[in-house]
Amino acid sequence: MTSNNIQLDNNGRLKHFLTTEGLNKNLLLNILDHAESFAGVGDRAVKKVPLLRGKTIVNLFFEPSTRTRTTFELAAKRLSADVLNINIAQSATSKGESLQDTLRTLEAMHCDMFVVRHGSSGAAHFMAKHVSPRIRIINAGDGNHAHPTQAMLDMFTIRHHKKDFSRLKVAIVGDIMHSRVARSEIHALTTLGVNEVRVIAPLTLLPARVETLGVHVFHELEAGLEDVDVVIMLRLQRERMRSALLPSEQEYFHNYGLTEKRLQVAKDDAIVMHPGPINRGVEIDTHVADGERSVILQQVSHGIAVRMAVMAMSMGSLVDKQEEKT
Ligand code: NCD
Repeated sequence: MTSNNIQLDNNGRLKHFLTTEGLNKNLLLNILDHAESFAGVGDRAVKKVPLLRGKTIVNLFFEPSTRTRTTFELAAKRLSADVLNINIAQSATSKGESLQDTLRTLEAMHCDMFVVRHGSSGAAHFMAKHVSPRIRIINAGDGNHAHPTQAMLDMFTIRHHKKDFSRLKVAIVGDIMHSRVARSEIHALTTLGVNEVRVIAPLTLLPARVETLGVHVFHELEAGLEDVDVVIMLRLQRERMRSALLPSEQEYFHNYGLTEKRLQVAKDDAIVMHPGPINRGVEIDTHVADGERSVILQQVSHGIAVRMAVMAMSMGSLVDKQEEKT
């Protein structure tokens, strides 16, 4: 039994969604396939399906967020659930008991699902372990540990443009050390069987022994971008840096900023992604961010469909796509 099994019910179906680590390829593909069928809901005159009617979902955000919180809210509403948004300033909370107290209070209100963002790694696991068995937990980002729905919306975007994962070379560039997105993406990409995952960063922004995750490490941007199909840029997450890990933003841009010129070494049809928020002129040049290879805004739209899929699956409201086929 791995600790990740807490995410699955006895039949191996998604119960809580805490991390992409340890989930099998079929389950990840199921999320993408369900998301595919939800992708059109936003284009309908009535942007709703009744799958979670009568359910109450609480967005519990202990850290600031714009796109993640709003796309979770839209996703829940498009599934016809009732949504409650609770933003809790990080300074007002501490780990352990206070989190448990928050949980008990919300449980008493008969809510069905908590979407949790928290500054501490492991907060969502903690909640899944301690919550009443009828409640589902979705991790919307915990510390620098995991951000599984962001990873899956990125996988959805990659599949949308590239179809077959097995041939792809994907580069993740920048502050890998503090990035929960990078960790969740690396697990998802390797499980989905991409040809090569590269991380490109200065030594100070790489976690120790990162290559044990199955990635190739590059310290030079041009060398790492050579021939890649997908470039995923990351923000410098200064709020998580405990000391100065970089000389200056100008110097960082000089060495690691993605410009049109540098992008030329990637494949001609390479796409550029970024989970947002983007810092123009720090990790990415404004022409690239708004350029024709950028799919950054598509990532945001895809986030709604992917979050609908994950929420509906964990509430047990969907039949496995794989089962449907047999
Ligand atoms: C990411 C996050 O919060 O981890 N953003 C997001 O969810 N859209 C990445 C970041 O903050 O840089």
